[in-house]
Amino acid sequence: MSVYNEGINHRSSLRTSEPFEIGELRMPKEPANNPLDSKSKVTIFDLQLKKDEGIPITMLTAYDYSSGLYVDRAGVDVILVGDSLAMVMLGISSTIPITMEQMLHHCRAVARGASRSFLVGDMPFMSYQADLSEAVHNAGRFLKEGEMESVKLEGGQEVGKTIEAIVKAGIPVMGHIGLTPQSISKLGGYKVQGKTARAATRLLQDAVSLEEAGCYAIVLEAVPAQVAGIISNRIHIPTIGIGAGVGCDGQVLVYHDLLGIFDRFTPKFVRKYANLAPIINAAISEFVSDVENKNFPAEEHTYPISDDELQAFIDSLAQ
Ligand code: KIV
Repeated sequence: MSVYNEGINHRSSLRTSEPFEIGELRMPKEPANNPLDSKSKVTIFDLQLKKDEGIPITMLTAYDYSSGLYVDRAGVDVILVGDSLAMVMLGISSTIPITMEQMLHHCRAVARGASRSFLVGDMPFMSYQADLSEAVHNAGRFLKEGEMESVKLEGGQEVGKTIEAIVKAGIPVMGHIGLTPQSISKLGGYKVQGKTARAATRLLQDAVSLEEAGCYAIVLEAVPAQVAGIISNRIHIPTIGIGAGVGCDGQVLVYHDLLGIFDRFTPKFVRKYANLAPIINAAISEFVSDVENKNFPAEEHTYPISDDELQAFIDSLAQ
């Protein structure tokens, strides 16, 4: 059964309303604001500590400066610049076509907005599968050019050697198993993974081999909750679930899903914490109506000129 049949359809800015004077270019990095702690930068050691102490890890995607700022400001532990940006930001129907250059462009924007969250860049399809040294080189670009602190890549035992090589180069790697959207053709669609004893065993083996290869955490996507819970107990590094139940060591959602911005469809595993799509629609429609009816701009949105200067200007036109 496809994920669509199961209702796990794969998915697909906000601005402050403060007045903004011309010439007053304000793009501050927000001070960290985590109620649990500290303004200090999150590291992979903090994530491990959270697992060891049974404190759930939070992770959310972000794709640009403003989403990076909002997610960081809310105290989310990990920001993933996911290749899901192909779908939710660029309107592409899968994650397959996204390129290194496009990923790096979005990573840099997120890094400008985030100061505390740990930053993970998602390695796009075919940036790490073909060749080990190309994989290491591309992972390095996420740190050097994308200003990320780690990379994520999809796959189980088959990417073990690649992960080892990237980690050996000093780059922390987050794994991703279960439903791996870059392999949808191989998986036969967006399907829940690990639903048979055999498939669950294979998933556990994949998780163990990713840990052995040097991953510091693993995303488990669209996996039965009981299976994800057992995997999380069997390995020592944190698991971050999406559609994998509360037994994971942390949870991740896509920014647009959480905020209800992407309204083409909603995967089963999403909880919408806001429903912004109708609010955005209404606001833009109101703008259109205000402009068409000359209700905008109003007096307070315009810049003054002194009567003398205005008169001088008008007089100059007559000469
Ligand atoms: O690209 C992405 O957003 C992801 C998350 C769903 C984990 O890989």
